[in-house]
Amino acid sequence: MGPSILSVCYIVASVTFILGLKMLSNPSTARRGNLIAAAGMIIAILATIFLYEDDGKRLGNYPWIFSAIVIGSVIGVLVAKKVKMTAMPELVSFFNGMGGACAALISIVEFDYLYRENRSVSTSFSDVVASGHYLAIIAGTIIGSVSFIGSMIAWGKLSGKFKDYSFKGQHLFNNLILILILVSAVYTYFSNTQMVNIPFFITVALALLYGVFFVLPIGGADMPVVISLLNSFTGVAAACGGFLYNNKAMLTGGILVGAAGTLLTILMCRAMNRSLVNVLIGSFGGNAKVATDAGGTHGNIKEISLSDAAMLMAYAKKVMIVPGYGLAVAQAQHTCHELEKALEEKGVEVKYAIHPVAGRMPGHMNVLLAEADVSYEKLLEMDEANEEFKTTDVALILGANDVVNPAAKNDPSSPIYGMPILEVELAKNVIVNKRSMKPGYAGIENQLFYQPKTSMLFGDAKKVLQELLAELKNI
Ligand code: TAP
Repeated sequence: MGPSILSVCYIVASVTFILGLKMLSNPSTARRGNLIAAAGMIIAILATIFLYEDDGKRLGNYPWIFSAIVIGSVIGVLVAKKVKMTAMPELVSFFNGMGGACAALISIVEFDYLYRENRSVSTSFSDVVASGHYLAIIAGTIIGSVSFIGSMIAWGKLSGKFKDYSFKGQHLFNNLILILILVSAVYTYFSNTQMVNIPFFITVALALLYGVFFVLPIGGADMPVVISLLNSFTGVAAACGGFLYNNKAMLTGGILVGAAGTLLTILMCRAMNRSLVNVLIGSFGGNAKVATDAGGTHGNIKEISLSDAAMLMAYAKKVMIVPGYGLAVAQAQHTCHELEKALEEKGVEVKYAIHPVAGRMPGHMNVLLAEADVSYEKLLEMDEANEEFKTTDVALILGANDVVNPAAKNDPSSPIYGMPILEVELAKNVIVNKRSMKPGYAGIENQLFYQPKTSMLFGDAKKVLQELLAELKNI
């Protein structure tokens, strides 16, 4: 009875994971999707604790299991409630590291069990453990360890605890460790059962070393891509655990995380017009030299006063707001929403143009604006927004830079050439708010700022928006 109900629970959990993931792809259903998948996970955990049987024996150990669950849940809830929106990537990285550690520990515990069972007989480990079983153990151990330590380094870098570090020949060094890991993993399998633990733990140590040197040289601003990649590693390591214990929920969950992480990594790279290798080697935003003005931008910029900017928008039919990283830095999302409402009261249609890699993490702008209760219907994806710029009177750019840089279209020598951008210059007027002429993440000049249609409105986004609001009220 138990096992069949357990299987049904696992299938229910798997379905909720798939449904949840699907719902996460739209901001209006994302919250519910998250809750549904979490409910599925609770079902899978409780079913395993109370229904799993091995030789007719249940798990037991309830005080240990529930103490760990309670401690973990309390810490998780407190940390998640306290975290600032801008610190979200580092929290995700930390949690992913914990997932990687769990996946690695599952494989290590399984190895330890096999080692203890067989250490009294002197034979090759390969004689007592099937190759498929060993493959799942060693893959889970290596991938989980890399994901754990790599995520912790990424967390440390994002929270300013570690600096980028690289040395000449680092990539060669990394490849060498990778080869040593594989050699050590194969050697372990053919070692004598009595001392197989030694090469096994050397493999673990090498995997941890690889994780450190894999992430350390990558630039802090490229961390979201790396975190997404490490997230997919955790998924694969968890799926290995699913194979080991023939646990379908763990297998489905692991495969979904692995696939989603891989797809997200590819999508982020594509939206930045960079290959994954380029991100991992750290071409821009990394420890490599920041790119300089590739397009050779020259000319004068034009400034606009707060009252003129307010006037231009108040008499416009349609205003398109383009949020970027600077809006998040200034924490100006609430003021931005107020400006949107004030303009709408004056009969202006207001929409938002969202670039897929605006900000510093996937969905950054969606999350930021959702926090300020901006309606999802007003958020246009890049292609939709590019269609609408033609009929837009004012494009108001708030702390965005690279995602509106026309060099991506016009300048083959630019490092961002080929990256899809928001074509704001199609609008009748462009107002750019930022604090200075400093470049954004890619470290390059923006020709948009010098175009005749463009006016600069310098200042911190929050302060400027507050002053614009005050001006609007006087019109
Ligand atoms: P950026 O190109 O980085 O530009 C942000 C601009 O905001 C800066 O030029 C800065 O200029 C301005 N700014 C900073 N603080 C401000 C404040 N308090 N008030 C007003 N302005 C402020 O941002 P973006 O256009 O959003 O583009 C994102 C970039 O990050 C892309 O290159 C993308 O490839 C990269 N990236 C994105 C992701 C994801 S997943 N989103 C991940 C990794 C990398 P001042 O200093 O002059 O104010």
